Amino acid sequence: MRFFLRAALTALLFSVVATAFGAEEDGYDLWLRYRPLERAAQQRVQAQARSIVLPGAPSATTDAALSELNRGLAGMLGRAPASSTRISDGALLLATPARLPSLATNDAAMRADLAALGNEGYLLRTSRVQGRQVTLIAANSDIGLLYGAFAWLRDAAIGGEMRAQSSAPKLQLRLLNHWDNLDRTVERGYSGQSIWDWWALPDIKDQRYTDYARANASLGINGTVLNNVNSKPEVLTAPFIAKAAAVADVLRPYGIKVYLSARFSTPLELHETSTADPLSPEVQQWWNKKADEIYKAIPDFGGFLVKANSEGQPGPQDYHRNHADGANMLAAALAPHKGIVMWRAFVYAPKGAHLADDRAKQAYEEFKPLDGAFAANVLVQVKNGAIDFQPREPFHPLFGAMPKTPLMMEFQITKEYLGYSTDIAYLGTMFEETLESDTRTGKTVAQTLSGMAGVANIGSDRNWAGSHFDQANWYAFGKLAWNPQAKARDIAAEWAALTFSPDQRVAAPITSMLMTSRETVVDYMTPLGLHHIMGTGHHHGPAPWVDNLERPDWNPVYYHRADHNGIGFNRTASGSNALEQYAPEIARQYADPRTTPEQLLLWFHHLPWDYVMPSGRTLWAELLARYDRGVANAKQLRSQWQALKPLIDARRYTETEQRLNRQVDNAILWRDACIAYFQSVSGLPLPPGVAAPAHPLSYYKALHYPYAPGRG
Ligand code: GCU
Repeated sequence: MRFFLRAALTALLFSVVATAFGAEEDGYDLWLRYRPLERAAQQRVQAQARSIVLPGAPSATTDAALSELNRGLAGMLGRAPASSTRISDGALLLATPARLPSLATNDAAMRADLAALGNEGYLLRTSRVQGRQVTLIAANSDIGLLYGAFAWLRDAAIGGEMRAQSSAPKLQLRLLNHWDNLDRTVERGYSGQSIWDWWALPDIKDQRYTDYARANASLGINGTVLNNVNSKPEVLTAPFIAKAAAVADVLRPYGIKVYLSARFSTPLELHETSTADPLSPEVQQWWNKKADEIYKAIPDFGGFLVKANSEGQPGPQDYHRNHADGANMLAAALAPHKGIVMWRAFVYAPKGAHLADDRAKQAYEEFKPLDGAFAANVLVQVKNGAIDFQPREPFHPLFGAMPKTPLMMEFQITKEYLGYSTDIAYLGTMFEETLESDTRTGKTVAQTLSGMAGVANIGSDRNWAGSHFDQANWYAFGKLAWNPQAKARDIAAEWAALTFSPDQRVAAPITSMLMTSRETVVDYMTPLGLHHIMGTGHHHGPAPWVDNLERPDWNPVYYHRADHNGIGFNRTASGSNALEQYAPEIARQYADPRTTPEQLLLWFHHLPWDYVMPSGRTLWAELLARYDRGVANAKQLRSQWQALKPLIDARRYTETEQRLNRQVDNAILWRDACIAYFQSVSGLPLPPGVAAPAHPLSYYKALHYPYAPGRG
């Protein structure tokens, strides 16, 4: 009897835990899970939404908002309330001044609040409307209502306490950039194939496109570039325009515009012009006509993203024209339709051309003199750092240096250099670090921006991002694009609560894992300002020894410059003087290793191995200590996760644990290979207490990864 009682109790307990923390989940629902709330929270939510009221005629966008509210409430409460057009007590009311003229007519404060929201903002509050007590989602447009509905659902899912709030995007352009090819491979993609099934389009539209739109709209992302920056001429042919139009139709109700990456030499390669020279009237006319054709199919087409004269891509320099000549020619074609050009500043000298003495300097050298020369509908899109999406880079010197040109930030959400979708590295902290950097031109980096683009980590994997934790990077990007001053920690906490559980026993440790994870990766890959010492081509794993590639700046030895005497890239006046591209205060501060932030030390300085660090250790000992710390913290991430096992559904627990095991191995590999290599050049002994690498250097050099993903 006692046995049965105990078994019954255990079963009951198990079912309580299973309800609280959910059955098996595959991650498809992202942060829009809407799982059943506990009773008290259900009551709180119910009281705010006895009915859902939308005055006026529905639109495709309000349909999306209502269907999301229904889905959310059905999931969290077990059933959704009725929808109505009549305002009653306890209603959740979605209103714009156009839908409910009385909303603002007699209420000056409400008028002012609405005015501050612009076209896309929203406010949530409890209010009396037409004598009824309601929960109000107000905006100036239907898209604002959709964003407001998502914000309200977030609060509901986290426990049902609605925070009165008012929110408007700080940046106008909030875009994902897909590096997706027409054959569905994804350059630097680690989450399966492209979600865009170009072959099946335009007739067959995957349900995923709608769910993609929902997820992005929940963050306020309002544009997406469908194809790789390394683009193909076919993208701008009629069949592909029709396919892009079909995607645009699905995304439109969610406020998301479609953009395309355009290959600069498209008309020439399609044999429709005899040149691609931007100053040739024949070429200009071709682009004008092409723009007309695109806008016929996609009336709200966003515009073009262009990678020109970089890594072998064609561009205006092939015709001795500059970036402004090229960008302005495309801008003129798009302007009558209100389209824009996002012209990338990620450039480095083509093969065989004269190489700058420091690749980090090239974008500034080419773009800074063109400040003021771009047409009004051109934005220059600048990567966060001057090299290439490294685990840590100082902010790009172009931020703050082009006051007459609207700039867009380009972050990479997919983790080409930070352990793919295997290693946990929350990029919110990295994005925040760049955005809040002071350019010393009177603005932080965030304040110099007109838009933000994120190279997407989205693919056909069931969980979208390749791993559950990589969903947090999509989330953080979207949140920071809406508000670049938002705090990475708040975003992490919100994501953890929505994606796993609002229970603090779950959300708090996951938040703390997220917050330390990127620094952990920096420690075991590229501590103290080291950069670009990854494997050739695929950029996986350590390869600081590589010195035989065709271009000097493709070789890790070019970046770390380690030899018997010391290590680091001298970017001060006695070296490449890349420092000169920053504002004078920064240049002065970083000119001296003692006033350079430790985390960027070897980015700017070449220092002897026995240089004494603030810790009192030599540089050599400090480097070793950082690698050790990286491994220790990777293990710590794993044990933090393991402690959560009883509180996480089995599938997501196991899938994450497998990756964390691999992350620990990867950290050890990086540590051991880098120590073996740097010791081979420094000739220094390992201090007591520092473990020798598990294998000789030759072992690490012999490792190859011929099928590493993401090569496109
Ligand atoms: C990196 C990346 C390439 C990409 C390029 C770019 O170099 O490895 O795959 O094409 O950036 O941003 O254009």
